[in-house]
Amino acid sequence: MSLKQKTRELLKRREEVELGGGEKAIEKQKSIGKLTARERILSLLDKESFHEYDLFAEHEARDFGMETKVLHGDGVITGTGTIYGAPICIYAQDFTVAGGSLGNMHARKITKIMDHALKMRVPLIGINDSGGARIQEGVNSLAGYGEIFFRNTLSSGVIPQLSVILGPCAGGAVYSPALTDFVFVVENISKMFITGPEVIKTVLGEEITMEELGGARVHSEITGNAHFFAMSELECFDQIKKLITYIPWNNSQKAKAFPPKEPKSNYKIEKIVPNDPSQPYDVRDVIRAIADDSDFLEVQADFAANIVIGFGRIKGDTIGFVANQPLVLAGVLDCDSSDKAGRFIRYCDAFNVPLVTLEDLPGYLPGVDQEHAGVIRHGAKILYAYSEATVPRITVILRKAYGGGYIAMNSRHLRADFVFAWPGAEIAVMGPEGAANIIFRKEIMGAENPDEMRKQKVKEYKAKFANPYVAAAKGYIDTVIHPEETRKLLIHAIEVSKNKRVGQPKKKHGIPPF
Ligand code: HXC
Repeated sequence: MSLKQKTRELLKRREEVELGGGEKAIEKQKSIGKLTARERILSLLDKESFHEYDLFAEHEARDFGMETKVLHGDGVITGTGTIYGAPICIYAQDFTVAGGSLGNMHARKITKIMDHALKMRVPLIGINDSGGARIQEGVNSLAGYGEIFFRNTLSSGVIPQLSVILGPCAGGAVYSPALTDFVFVVENISKMFITGPEVIKTVLGEEITMEELGGARVHSEITGNAHFFAMSELECFDQIKKLITYIPWNNSQKAKAFPPKEPKSNYKIEKIVPNDPSQPYDVRDVIRAIADDSDFLEVQADFAANIVIGFGRIKGDTIGFVANQPLVLAGVLDCDSSDKAGRFIRYCDAFNVPLVTLEDLPGYLPGVDQEHAGVIRHGAKILYAYSEATVPRITVILRKAYGGGYIAMNSRHLRADFVFAWPGAEIAVMGPEGAANIIFRKEIMGAENPDEMRKQKVKEYKAKFANPYVAAAKGYIDTVIHPEETRKLLIHAIEVSKNKRVGQPKKKHGIPPF
């Protein structure tokens, strides 16, 4: 064969592979509003940056008619490319080929690119669109998942791992995304569940649609499995690209610094927080009044909205923001918000992202539901995550800091580097009304006018404790600042913390309250 003929053969082979499961299957994929696996990769990565590997891989299955089946790429596309110049390892399951089901070769292609990502210390992106374990390949498929889960765990905290759910992600397949750092879902397209509607109907006799069981909104709002929700695949890719600009390639680097920008002038920090501690406000406006260009990439925006987490920049450097949200449940800590914040704090700590905590909360949420749901175990996660984190950690107490909430939200006692308070901050064991009712109960009950007496005692308690100066006098907070000074002081605190070095006692690993 001449070189020309060999080249022609190569092109022909490539063309065949690139057709995936064939025109009919591609048509079906498109008819439900989905892009093909190849289109997804090409839309997400920088133009002409994608290089595919193992496109000529062939499965070795020999049972249930598989011996005669040609499965192009064995149902998954793998390769490397860049996003805004950042190197990326990527795989995308191709539903048009045997439903993107995971057989032995399919898994080997994924684990090969995962090994590459870990070795090269670059982010890994997995696009999931699959019917799960390839039924015809039996235990080989299960082995494949096990190999993936093991690598997800090995890479955790070393390289960023992003999972994009763009189709079914059924059965054990869900555990790979669950082990990764960020999960992206798209309205009407993403479906994630352990046991599908048919199994539920057979076992429990209950009828439920895939959407109701594990659609994009379910995982964004109820389960907390998803971190980013989008209305379309293209919007989802924009979210991924934006996230990639905020995070480093691996745990030995820092995120790329951007040119600093002042916050937008329409966010007036001194006007956002009402003086009355019972009045709500949107803490995201405070973040936008602090962050460069008022840009804030919120993570898990619709789950446990009583706490806000996400990335912004201060003077060009990526910052992880953790903020109580007085708009929702007065910003209390509960099981879900503790899980949400705890995990994010650990992500930032693993990837050298300094943390800024904005505090305004009445404490942990009381009630039988919370107690029985395990608020002790879940609530401990945020304490553990902050205490363990060695990245620069700065807290600004905006208003209320009551009870366990005061301790949990990156207090000095958990080794915050800097704690600042605004003049309206109230730092106390509990709110003045509750406190006065307990400690002055006898005086109030015995008074001629109990209501008047209660008011007076609340006033007394407020004057004594509900201010920042008792804590400032003890050195628990470093200084009381005017809201307008916040950004300037944060810039300074981050600057002086750049070479922070703290040790942990030698141990194999801690035992966090999982
Ligand atoms: C082999 C599969 C497959 C699978 C789909 N296909 N899932 N082949 N193994 N797991 C094939 C179909 O046979 C079909 O092939 C093609 O993919 C497209 O599938 P359709 O059913 O036509 O597509 P659709 O109607 O869109 O339904 C999608 C679906 C459904 C909901 C995902 O296919 C489905 O329920 N699949 C099975 C899901 C499942 O139970 N998986 C196993 C989970 S157990 P043809 O040739 O007809 O085009 C598991 C254990 C892992 O994953 C444990 C790890 C710890």
